[in-house]
Amino acid sequence: MNAEHPVSDRTATEILDPREFRHALGSFATGIAIVTTRDARGDPVGLTINSFASVSLDPPLVLWSLSLYSPSLAAFQHCSHYAINILSVDQIEYSQRFSRPGETAAGKFAGIDFDEGAGGAPLLRDCCAWFECRNETRHPGGDHLIFVGLVEAFRRAQQQRSPLIFHGGRYRCLATDSPAEESRS
Ligand SMILES: Cc1cc2nc3c(=O)[nH]c(=O)nc-3n(C[C@H](O)[C@H](O)[C@H](O)COP(=O)(O)O)c2cc1C
Repeated sequence: MNAEHPVSDRTATEILDPREFRHALGSFATGIAIVTTRDARGDPVGLTINSFASVSLDPPLVLWSLSLYSPSLAAFQHCSHYAINILSVDQIEYSQRFSRPGETAAGKFAGIDFDEGAGGAPLLRDCCAWFECRNETRHPGGDHLIFVGLVEAFRRAQQQRSPLIFHGGRYRCLATDSPAEESRS
């Protein structure tokens, strides 16, 4: 172990303790998005995710992952397009609603106004940004399926909105919208 940069001396088995693993992953702060599409009947489908990440600028690719146990799996596997709706800090209720176990697709969208993106994917109002993606490729990833989407269109809120943050298993907001202080050398 390097004394200047001490790293955890826990064994692999300890690190792979599922609870510990989850906690360690939770130290990575993310935004929160709701990914939406239409099922084979044309009904809206969506769920809360924080696995969203950018992949490539040219071509413009993004990724996210979906649990193999998700009732929404078939809809996302077979749809032509989906939309990634990046939540703002005042949309915690959306995040909770779209991650509620056992909540039906109809229940998730009840009373929610949305516009339609590519392939009819719901674009929720008042988000920070929206990415309309072609369902390009899917890759096995353990108990999740990794979706790589080709971004065909995107939009940012006209008035900048503060994003909803997830960290340490809790919803959070940015303390300030100012950039973090960089060290000057
Ligand atoms: C902050 C947060 C992030 C989440 N990220 C993901 C994710 O990236 N992938 C996933 O499959 N489930 C994720 N979930 C869990 C799903 O939102 C939850 O299981 C939801 O019920 C799935 O919808 P479904 O029942 O239609 O599959 C997340 C939940 C929360 C609260």
